[in-house]
Amino acid sequence: MQNNNSFSDLSLNLNVRGMPLSATLYINELSNKLKQQGKKVYKFGLGQSPFPVPKVVVDELRINAFQKDYLEVIGLKPLREAVAEYHSRRNDIQRSAENVLIGPGSKELMFLLQFVYYGELVIPTPSWVSYAPQAKIIGRQIAWIKTKEKNKWRLLPEELHHICEKDNYRPRIVILNYPSNPTGVSYSSEELQELADVARRHRVILLSDEIYGELTFKGDHCSIASYYPEGTILSGGLSKWCGAGGWRLGTFTFPDSLSSLMNGMAAVASETFTSTSAPIQYAAIKAFGGGIEIERYLWNARKILSALAKHTHNFLSNGGIECPKPDGAFYLFLNFKNFSEKLKSRNLFTGMDLTTRLLEDTGVALLPGSVFGRPEEEYTARLSYVDFDGAKVMAAAETIRPEDPIPDDFINAHCSHLLGGIKAIVGWIKSL
Ligand SMILES: Cc1ncc(COP(=O)(O)O)c(C=O)c1O
Repeated sequence: MQNNNSFSDLSLNLNVRGMPLSATLYINELSNKLKQQGKKVYKFGLGQSPFPVPKVVVDELRINAFQKDYLEVIGLKPLREAVAEYHSRRNDIQRSAENVLIGPGSKELMFLLQFVYYGELVIPTPSWVSYAPQAKIIGRQIAWIKTKEKNKWRLLPEELHHICEKDNYRPRIVILNYPSNPTGVSYSSEELQELADVARRHRVILLSDEIYGELTFKGDHCSIASYYPEGTILSGGLSKWCGAGGWRLGTFTFPDSLSSLMNGMAAVASETFTSTSAPIQYAAIKAFGGGIEIERYLWNARKILSALAKHTHNFLSNGGIECPKPDGAFYLFLNFKNFSEKLKSRNLFTGMDLTTRLLEDTGVALLPGSVFGRPEEEYTARLSYVDFDGAKVMAAAETIRPEDPIPDDFINAHCSHLLGGIKAIVGWIKSL
């Protein structure tokens, strides 16, 4: 009903008019609603780490709760030093505190980057849900590169070359995200090197979104910044590997050659969010500083996620649902194309039709491929295998010897709800 006091003729910015809530948030809210109605829901739509924040980092936050001052716009110096040192330790990339920008989530920093840089945004699909809407809000042009399933949805050097050679002088930012949301697939160091060569040849700026880097199952994440240091901005943060999405802390690490971009972003930050939450920044020093507790936490997180990835991937593939084997993160990108005829005969013509009916029939929440930039009619969907009690599973994993893998019966015992949801997907598609 129209409220008489509402401004029904309010003028909204045309770039924002009609824009819905971010798709991941929407599916999360819908799943919560169904749950409140007493329905059994499998929350596979959410992109959140299931694990608690490491205790040492929480303790540090507690100690620093009293920190109340506005901090330097670009971030607390000891934190920026810790981030620079972290990149040197983990990725062998040499940066100083002056190259690091701290923000309230890497998402906000990406928005600032697009705002400050005047150029085209190149996005390989499938890719994370927010890159394109951010470009639309700001009014930037987007160029999509449709990657291929047979290449595990990864960007090939020739595909990048093809789009860049069209207009060689156009300023561009190319986003590369690995391990990928939504596929979990990453690149080998050789593949990164080839992509870096093309990026350098065309002088594009790479935004290397490595927010899931620490969750590469083998712990061997490699950054493209090693091969194209002068043109790569490395994006990271606490949200995924440290289980602290709600803390809102992201990092951008720039090369000296892009310092004017960083300064521009800092200027806008100073007129908008001012600085990132002080207690969170103090606690983040501990997280980036590493140490035995953090290493043990990451070791177990990788082990658990890798075992779940293997289990769910096998089960779905055996059920005829195709998905590339992930290398990290907590996603699988499913393709139901083997069931196309069946789906059409049930009046399900798009990925959105498929995921909506699946949610209604089984309580399983997935996100359709279209929100990751895939065609509407493609029967693809992202599954996040995070619907389990991360604190409990982490505690149980700590009782297994570090050198031993997670046994199958561990998954059955501790993630039975998750496995129930996976079985429900296969059962549903077969019974259609
Ligand atoms: C690929 C990717 N990049 C960036 C982000 C943003 O993370 P944050 O803003 O929490 O740092 C996310 C969050 O879901 C993501 O999946």
